[in-house]
Amino acid sequence: MANTMSTHAMTTDDHRDRSRHLRKKSHRLIPGGSHTYAKGDDQFPEQVPAVISHGKGCHVWDLDGREFIEYGMGLRAVALGHAFAPVVDAVTRELSRGTNFTRPSPIELECAEQFLELVPSAEMVKFCKDGSHAVDGAVRLSRAYTGRDLVAYCSDHPFFSTSDWFIGTTEMKAGVPEAIRRLVVTFRYNDLSGLETLFAEHPGQIACVIMEPARTEEPEPGYLEGVKRIVHANGALLAYDEMITGFRWNKRGAQHLYGVTPDLSTFGKALANGFSVSALAGRREFMRLGGSDHDGERVFLLSTTHGAETHELAAAMATMRFYDNNPVVDTLYARGERLRRGFESAVQDHGLTGYVDLASRDCNLLFGTKDTEKRPSQAFRTLFMQELVNRGVIAPSFVVSYSHTEPDVDRTIEVVHQALHTYRLALENGVENYLIGRSVKPVFRRCS
Ligand SMILES: Cc1ncc(COP(=O)(O)O)c(C=O)c1O
Repeated sequence: MANTMSTHAMTTDDHRDRSRHLRKKSHRLIPGGSHTYAKGDDQFPEQVPAVISHGKGCHVWDLDGREFIEYGMGLRAVALGHAFAPVVDAVTRELSRGTNFTRPSPIELECAEQFLELVPSAEMVKFCKDGSHAVDGAVRLSRAYTGRDLVAYCSDHPFFSTSDWFIGTTEMKAGVPEAIRRLVVTFRYNDLSGLETLFAEHPGQIACVIMEPARTEEPEPGYLEGVKRIVHANGALLAYDEMITGFRWNKRGAQHLYGVTPDLSTFGKALANGFSVSALAGRREFMRLGGSDHDGERVFLLSTTHGAETHELAAAMATMRFYDNNPVVDTLYARGERLRRGFESAVQDHGLTGYVDLASRDCNLLFGTKDTEKRPSQAFRTLFMQELVNRGVIAPSFVVSYSHTEPDVDRTIEVVHQALHTYRLALENGVENYLIGRSVKPVFRRCS
């Protein structure tokens, strides 16, 4: 890695001007200034590059050639690394053979076979482009199978879909009819009696329960088994959203790790190392409704013009092959553990226990920032990210990839130490004296 420290310390006026210009133009042409809210300006401190020019491994460069170590790459989709050669090579080979035909390409079947070998709970799979679409497919299929309208999702898990059924339940629900919002109910993680009560309050009405198998909290012993028992006792379907846990908790998904198999599961993100492939997988009894080898009413299950582009499926196949032949998940855990240990000892050294912490598994580290009263604080989150970015680390989380090396992690720990030094001073003297610019804001908010 180049000397990140020296390239970063200097942010020139030219650079600031260029960034300001790009930001302004982006907001004029693109609502929110970005095609994905989670990448938006309001999610980062003002010092973050307006745009990232390119990346290699876990390193990225801005338009001025400044180099950064990046975490949470591509919203956790790029789990192997940017421009990862085995994936890029597979995509390139496929591109020159044509990407979208009038009839399916053999790669659609090959990719399905490979995926089903990897995720043994699933007997059939359908690919599409993004995670929301796959989760929506699970919702429609469950409603069709059960003849019921209500969807129950776990409210401790922040995001499932960009569709009305989910967005209508958030703070940003403008444009979603109340009638749709009324078709959704929620339950809490690790609370079996709450789920039982929910079913009792809506007898014969809940089509499916959708949840991540785990997020920041681990399942209590017997919890996932209990959910499955309650869901089935009430005639509903259980769907696991493995968008994040898939290819991270375990190469066969969190369902394999915890030993509880759902009826339907959805994968995306890391499945194709950042290329756009997602999957709805599940038992034949349910999935076959999307086909024509049955006498019942057919379900329109995931069908889009670009859904099975050959080069994207080639990316998924190359990614799954790489996971099969290399200790990817073990490496994610090992790098995360190294980072967590360094982070925790830095927190202790600066007397910040209870103010800055880490949650979730080592393969998926999320940091929390608290104010003087130990309340979650967006201002302190911004300050922490500001101090990291000023020293060459872009980190909305500390979610590692296979390309994060031990030196990358060690450099990050050094930078965390320096950032926490400022954090300590800000607790003592007021965050406003150290924060340069405005605070970050949650994506799901009603007004600007
Ligand atoms: C758990 C979970 N489910 C579903 C989605 C939606 O996936 P996509 O953004 O690919 O539509 C996300 C996206 O962040 C997610 O984190």
